[in-house]
Amino acid sequence: MLIRTSIAIVAIAFGVSAVIAQSDPTAARKALMKENGAQAKAGAAMVKGEAPFDLAKAKLVFTTYADAAGKMPGLFPDNSKTGGETTAAPKIWEDMNGFKAAFAKFGSESKAAADSVKDLDSFKAAFGNVGKNCGGCHELYRIKKS
Ligand code: HEC
Repeated sequence: MLIRTSIAIVAIAFGVSAVIAQSDPTAARKALMKENGAQAKAGAAMVKGEAPFDLAKAKLVFTTYADAAGKMPGLFPDNSKTGGETTAAPKIWEDMNGFKAAFAKFGSESKAAADSVKDLDSFKAAFGNVGKNCGGCHELYRIKKS
């Protein structure tokens, strides 16, 4: 009985977060991207020597990117083209395969970087390379806000 109750509670907790992603995918994808932005800032501070190099933090930059790359493609249903102050460009839905491929590339490069980074020099190189994906995708698939 007790076991059944806890299983039910766990099921409810999982269900709720899934519903949030489904009912407000725009908020979910913006939150993931904000997290990428925060990690990019932390990484840039280490590269510039404004913050001490920390291997765990360096890896976290790339594992955060990889996590977002895995979740993002599922957060663009047809009914999320507008609203929620989205900056997602219509091109995403016209070229969903290209958009998903861009996330697959970003994800695999981020994972490889998380595995290979070992010191500040290797971090600088990987951070620069992986970071090209950000602007590259935004250029194509994001509306510029004036
Ligand atoms: C393959 C595509 C893609 C890649 C790669 C990508 N982004 Fe984004 N990003 C988007 C899209 C699409 C949006 C707009 C989401 C929306 O408004 O619905 C966005 C929005 C953002 C935002 C604004 C979030 C907000 O509050 O509205 C930030 C910050 C951001 N991205 C940072 C990054 C950083 C940093 C990287 C690289 C480490 C990155 N992105 C890589 C597609 C991408």
